[in-house]
Amino acid sequence: MDNINKKSNLVNILVGKEVNDTPIWMMRQAGRYLPEYRALRKNAGSFLNLCMNPKLASEVTLQPLKRFDLDAAIIFSDILTIPMACNRELRFVENEGPKLKPITTEKEIIDLKITNAEYLEPMYESLNIVKNKLDKSKALIGFAGAPFTVAAYMIEGEGNTKFPKCVSFFKNNEKIFLLLLEKLEGFIANHLIKQINAGAEIIQIFESHAKIAGDEKKFKEFCIEPVKRIIDKIRKKHPNIPIIGFPRNASNYYLEYGKYVNVDCISLDQNVDVKWLINNLKMTYNRNLCLQGNLAPEILLEGGNKMVTSVHNTLNSFSSVKHIFNLGHGVIKETPIENVELLIKTIKTWKK
Ligand code: CP3
Repeated sequence: MDNINKKSNLVNILVGKEVNDTPIWMMRQAGRYLPEYRALRKNAGSFLNLCMNPKLASEVTLQPLKRFDLDAAIIFSDILTIPMACNRELRFVENEGPKLKPITTEKEIIDLKITNAEYLEPMYESLNIVKNKLDKSKALIGFAGAPFTVAAYMIEGEGNTKFPKCVSFFKNNEKIFLLLLEKLEGFIANHLIKQINAGAEIIQIFESHAKIAGDEKKFKEFCIEPVKRIIDKIRKKHPNIPIIGFPRNASNYYLEYGKYVNVDCISLDQNVDVKWLINNLKMTYNRNLCLQGNLAPEILLEGGNKMVTSVHNTLNSFSSVKHIFNLGHGVIKETPIENVELLIKTIKTWKK
């Protein structure tokens, strides 16, 4: 049985306890909009060097908490360390993002296994370090990409909006694509269990490219079933660990996700119709889920009174459910620090 962090607002809301204030953290809260991040990254030489160095990664994880009154630290790493650990070459190109050696053959999938665990282990050590340094009122979040999103990068070889190679791969070779998802499901479940063993108190599963799965049947097969099985595997070892699912841009399939995936909370992007989702989750499934989100990162980038009004609208739109404040996606690198300060002040001074 895990020890639940009773002092953390964020953990408390996820396990169904009453909390007085809306907890807040931001995706990509440790990143390039912070000058202290840019300085450390420059010294480390690259983003991946930072991820692989627990001393530096733990420092980066804590940087935003030194500046802002956030309710959580999310451990600094990446969802693409899983392909690295499978010996799929990865590099990050400035302003272009990740580049991987794409999977093109069935044999590569059949042979896929974790051959380079040394690319995953630094994350566990970083968690250990952060856990010891973090104030007990703050929660420590571990994470992974969901199998479908990780598979999309592995087949496409890079990120883009439509992932055409991946889509034609699963249309032409569904059986072998499902084998890839099944393998990734095992690797990711183990990776998350090890993160919890190392100190993660909450898990977030990122399905950033849910949209490319296509119709409802495919969404269920690719984005719902594998994640459900991962959660079952985790809960066998850690029955009480709070889990947040983020099927980004799933639009009306958020409802299916809420029905079938046994997460404690769903994170929403900024394009969802929040009122529609809340009403349908309550009326159709009688589920009082916790929801996280969903201010557009572009609004945080802009800041000022317009942002304050949007933040109030966001807070109001979630006032009938348990709500964790977050963005609809990660902080944009040009975001001014004073906008983040104003965001947090606006949330902390808001009364229902
Ligand atoms: O602060 C945090 O959110 C924790 C750390 C974290 C990172 N990536 C650090 C990072 C987390 C949780 C991720 C998840 C991740 N990584 C996702 C899912 C969330 C999402 O963004 O949809 C995805 C798809 C990736 C893959 C990835 N990593 C891409 C596409 C990119 C390039 C995009 C970009 O912003 O340049 C990265 C790089 C990356 N991961 C950075 C950070 C801080 C930028 C690194 C840098 O250049 O210094």
